[in-house]
Amino acid sequence: MKITNNYSFHGELSVPGDKSISHRGIMFGAISNGLTEITNFLQGADCLSTISCFQKLGILIENHGSSVLVHGKGLHGLSAPSQILDVGNSGTTTRLISGILAGQSFETALDGDHSIRKRPMQRIFTPLSQMGASFQCWDQASFPARQECCDSGCAPFTVRGGHLKGIHYHSQVASAQVKSAILLAGLYAEDETSVTEPVLSRNHTELMLSGFGACITSDGATASIRPEPVLNGQNIHVPGDISSAAYFIALGLITPHSEILIQNVGVNPTRSGILDTALAMGGNLTLLNKRTVSGEPVADILVKSSHLHGAVVGGAAIPTLIDEIPVIAVMAAFAEGATVIQDAQELKVKESDRIAVVTENLKAMGASIVPTEDGMVIEGGRPLKGARIHTCQDHRIAMSFTVAGLNASGETTLDDENCAAISYPSFYEDILTLAK
Ligand code: S3P
Repeated sequence: MKITNNYSFHGELSVPGDKSISHRGIMFGAISNGLTEITNFLQGADCLSTISCFQKLGILIENHGSSVLVHGKGLHGLSAPSQILDVGNSGTTTRLISGILAGQSFETALDGDHSIRKRPMQRIFTPLSQMGASFQCWDQASFPARQECCDSGCAPFTVRGGHLKGIHYHSQVASAQVKSAILLAGLYAEDETSVTEPVLSRNHTELMLSGFGACITSDGATASIRPEPVLNGQNIHVPGDISSAAYFIALGLITPHSEILIQNVGVNPTRSGILDTALAMGGNLTLLNKRTVSGEPVADILVKSSHLHGAVVGGAAIPTLIDEIPVIAVMAAFAEGATVIQDAQELKVKESDRIAVVTENLKAMGASIVPTEDGMVIEGGRPLKGARIHTCQDHRIAMSFTVAGLNASGETTLDDENCAAISYPSFYEDILTLAK
């Protein structure tokens, strides 16, 4: 696929359902009583990995396209899988399911792709082991024969559920995946479990689990859960994913003569840092028709071409926009002056090392960017030229650099465009519908 800069972008679109909320709908539905119906479910590869893992755990899940039916079996209804659970590329599947598996009376083996095999899992092993579960990592070359165990702290690994006790855990990282794993294990513990984060991360688990009937409370950056609730199946309508909308926000802002209305986007404040950042950079952005859907705030977002300037992005905002930093870096390259992204060392342990990969690709396009230990500094305003983009099979890199290529001179190519399907299978088609 060749990307060039001959277009402006006009019209309306609805981005696919939110990835974080789609995963949670399947997981919470599986451990609830009765039927959960999820509409506008994201049919991205990551969420399909979650469906296949729960099917292997004995849950009937009917995938009818944008609607999915989960026939829940209650808190104690999962059965021991006869196969390894394949989590694919999905960190959310790996970490959240581990919290549920920590409370089961059987052993489960998990493995994923080359990227998952590098991602740190000790961050969930430590608290879940304190609660009473046990984990064993396996040598990657000899797996699944399980001839050699190791202490890599990465997949593949086995989890043996135990009799769990509640803990009060102070997490070193603001990570909704870590928080959610602990809260899910807390459903099976003897007594109350709580997690305190350095900064509040996305709170979809707290909102949705409470809707299913869990006794869960939040106080600032601490969430607490009481064990053994009766969870009942729900109807969930998944809002559009703000992380997917972010590419169209950036595209509309940096492409001259463009105007895009993105409909039905989840704007939960623990996710909406991209909106604050775009506004702080001088972006012309308006939120319309604000409403609440399935307990989550939703709005339509109107974006118009803007003359952007640099900004400082850091501190408590980082967890609210962590997945959007690659596309914010692209926006920064088109903005006047310096943009400083700091406190974002978590970027190094995402689907790729996003500090290194964003730096490499923006440099290849002629941008001025310096990587730092916890982010990057971009001196914007230099015209970008097309380049061959090294995606590292990271969906967010592929989509961010498509946006850059659509505003660069010459031709941009991606070494793997298909990885966008991890979170946004119709990304390129949706761009074409708006291109004029
Ligand atoms: C997610 C949490 C974030 C985010 C990921 C989805 C979730 O990861 O980057 O794409 O659904 O809980 P961390 O919890 O590792 O920050």
